[in-house]
Amino acid sequence: MKKAIIMGASSGIGHEVARQLINEGWTVGVAARRIEQLTDLQNSAPERVFTAQIDVTEDHADASLSALITQMDGIDLYLHVAGIGWQNPSLEPEKEIKTMETNATGFTRMVGAAYRYFAEHGGGHIACITSIAGTKGLGPAPAYSATKALQNTYLQALEQLSLTKHHNIRFTDIRPGFVDTPLLSGTAHFPMLMTTNHVAKCIIKAIRQRRHVCVIDTRWRILTFLWRHIPDWIWRHIRLA
Ligand SMILES: NC(=O)c1ccc[n+]([C@@H]2O[C@H](COP(=O)([O-])OP(=O)(O)OC[C@H]3O[C@@H](n4cnc5c(N)ncnc54)[C@H](OP(=O)(O)O)[C@@H]3O)[C@@H](O)[C@H]2O)c1
Repeated sequence: MKKAIIMGASSGIGHEVARQLINEGWTVGVAARRIEQLTDLQNSAPERVFTAQIDVTEDHADASLSALITQMDGIDLYLHVAGIGWQNPSLEPEKEIKTMETNATGFTRMVGAAYRYFAEHGGGHIACITSIAGTKGLGPAPAYSATKALQNTYLQALEQLSLTKHHNIRFTDIRPGFVDTPLLSGTAHFPMLMTTNHVAKCIIKAIRQRRHVCVIDTRWRILTFLWRHIPDWIWRHIRLA
């Protein structure tokens, strides 16, 4: 029987992963700003599900995470899902900056808190839902693609830190392609769209297999491999939206 905290479990990918882990018998702490959206998860197994209202952009969010860990009497897995993003080709500053605050500053705050907890408690597993968007800078979504690349690099850095300091922390950087969630609603048509059910199964499998980096799914793995090999002088001219 394992214990996990899922940060960003009120909708989309995080909600579905939480649902599947609870069904598998895990004890799960679920957190987000919209605590009312966590009720169905708690009702599904009240003795094994803990909820917390946490906004990762707030200064004291790391203390709230520590309180939830204490309430659960420790955890084995921290899964960071919380994230926002928009297509923002007009560079509306509030969208760009809010994305930076959530996906860069908030991410760093929470993953850092999880790292310190595991380093002090003999190790553990940190998994994060980043994105294929971090593969290259995307013109229609500058802040989103840049913050996802930051997450990829930050996790690589922490993994090296943990190994060299013998902190015994494993890392899984999970990079899905397009998933049918509220994050994409109301915007353009998205090709190769995946369901949350399929993606959550792939995420749990990647965590169980202790993968370092996992692009979901095979089609997106091939596409990002090709993207990575497009020379910058060609990439600059590609019109994405
Ligand atoms: N959908 C895709 O195509 C796709 C593809 C690749 C990667 N991703 C990544 O997957 C993650 C989940 O996105 P999703 O598609 O499942 O979208 P979603 O349904 O909008 O879920 C986003 C989750 O993040 C939480 N969140 C956002 N801001 C937060 C904050 N300040 N503090 C705490 N929690 C916060 C939301 O909860 P509250 O609003 O209740 O706080 C919600 O639970 C994101 O990191 C996203 O970048 C998505």
